Amino acid sequence: MASIVCSDIVKGFGGIPVLKGISITFEPGTVTVLVGENGAGKSTLIKIIAGLETADHGEVMLDAEPLVKGDPRAANLKGIRLVPQELAPIPDMTVYENLFIGRELKTRAGLLDRKRMIREAKELLHSFDVDIDPLTPARQLSVAMLQLVEIINATSQGATALLLDEPTSAIPDREIEGLYKIVRRVRAMGAAVVYTTHKMEEIAEISDRVVVLRDGNLVSDLPTSETTHDGIISAMIGRDLDDLFSHTTEPDVEEMLTISGLTLHGGYPLDLSVKRGEIVGLAGLVGAGRTEFLEGVFGVRPTVSGTIEVKGKYVRRNDPAAAIRSRIALVPEDRKGAGTVLSMSILDNATLPHLASFSTAGWMRNVFRAKSISAVMKSVRLKSRGLGQSLETLSGGNQQKVVFARWLTEDIDVLLLDEPTRGVDIGARSEIYRIIADLAASGVSVVMASSDMPEILGLAHRAIVVRNGQFVGELNAEQLRREDAQDSIFRLAAGIGLVTAATGLPAARV
Ligand SMILES: Nc1ncnc2c1ncn2[C@@H]1O[C@H](COP(=O)(O)OP(=O)(O)OP(=O)(O)O)[C@@H](O)[C@H]1O
Ligand SMILES: [Mg+2]
Repeated sequence: MASIVCSDIVKGFGGIPVLKGISITFEPGTVTVLVGENGAGKSTLIKIIAGLETADHGEVMLDAEPLVKGDPRAANLKGIRLVPQELAPIPDMTVYENLFIGRELKTRAGLLDRKRMIREAKELLHSFDVDIDPLTPARQLSVAMLQLVEIINATSQGATALLLDEPTSAIPDREIEGLYKIVRRVRAMGAAVVYTTHKMEEIAEISDRVVVLRDGNLVSDLPTSETTHDGIISAMIGRDLDDLFSHTTEPDVEEMLTISGLTLHGGYPLDLSVKRGEIVGLAGLVGAGRTEFLEGVFGVRPTVSGTIEVKGKYVRRNDPAAAIRSRIALVPEDRKGAGTVLSMSILDNATLPHLASFSTAGWMRNVFRAKSISAVMKSVRLKSRGLGQSLETLSGGNQQKVVFARWLTEDIDVLLLDEPTRGVDIGARSEIYRIIADLAASGVSVVMASSDMPEILGLAHRAIVVRNGQFVGELNAEQLRREDAQDSIFRLAAGIGLVTAATGLPAARV
């Protein structure tokens, strides 16, 4: 097995240096975690190794043999596999069809040999201890399972290097173990694994070595056993981080948002009331229905009955313009979806009428507030060349910051947040937590769906657990501070909570 040797890699975009001379060797049979702030250059380095970007200077070698620059097929032939963050399985095809894309097995007569493909897919999945029927359509798999299928696919023909760019950002904590298992297996097969992540907990769990990039420079390279959590963070952000979570103030008694019997098409009626200044966390597994609920409240997903009130005033359902008039804002989960236009600049995205991307109903309000926008972007430590830079050329985490920040230029009473810090580095995350806590302190009510358990435990006044489109339990402030809070949430999310006699609903285990 060969080492991946990067020597003096330099790369810039439009004259702006992004990698400033990176020399590093990735050893076979080793998992190296690559960390750094959003925009530090992690994805760029990985793409250069995989031939998807071309370095301006420097070389990538397999042992002493240089790789062809900017040639992903050549890199692939050498066993360099990149699993990008945005997965590309074909949803209408089955698992086995996805596993054999581009290398379909044929019978002697030249027909697709489905039987053999199914059998081999079964063996392959089995050899990785993954319990999926190869005949399952890809669309029925969770993101975590899709990720596993992609990795198995990438490594099934052998791999010299496996490059994983934020493999766990969209996977709930509960399902991460399956990924670790496969990564360990690929390591045992002798591949050099390079793994980027913003989840600090993962470092000790999965890595043998930690490499920190800051502003395009390699600033730290240590065996994991010699690192500390605080040491890695200060190498990443060039300063010490104070508390990750800001102090939250006590909510008012006054009710701000009152939702009664809100029912999505084919769903259960849901009730929720949120006090002024209160932060309510929505916990649950992926697919539990949190996004759907938030979208239903905001009016971008049809609801069939129920009422929504803000400060005692009715908000028309199924009408996002009415939601916005009632000073409700939604920060969506998917930065490529409802929130933004990737080809447009930061400024255009921030001043985009908030509904243009949601509704064709003709809601047009164009508030131009470049000044407050640049202040807001600064407050989330956006790393960009200026407000004119297009979103698609920002690093993944910085795109997320724009999605978050553009809604903060409005005066709002209710802020609905869907996975607000997915893919965001730890320094910026602490800024986002501070902004959320400040907004709450100023009287904004926040409903925050998050799969990041520490985020719910650290920020929310109260957590509601969602499962199969229902609210199945609730933890109050005191319960959230207990040692077993995380465990209680997991149990409820997975459907192993206790049932209380009073409500017939499972209650948080106390
Ligand atoms: N095609 C491009 N054109 C212009 N600038 C680019 C392009 N691709 C990347 N950049 C810039 O290069 C820098 C490094 O980006 P990169 O995606 O490597 O960061 P990253 O470390 O992966 O960040 P994140 O944690 O947010 O994913 C960023 O400032 C980004 O804006
Ligand atoms: Mg990246």
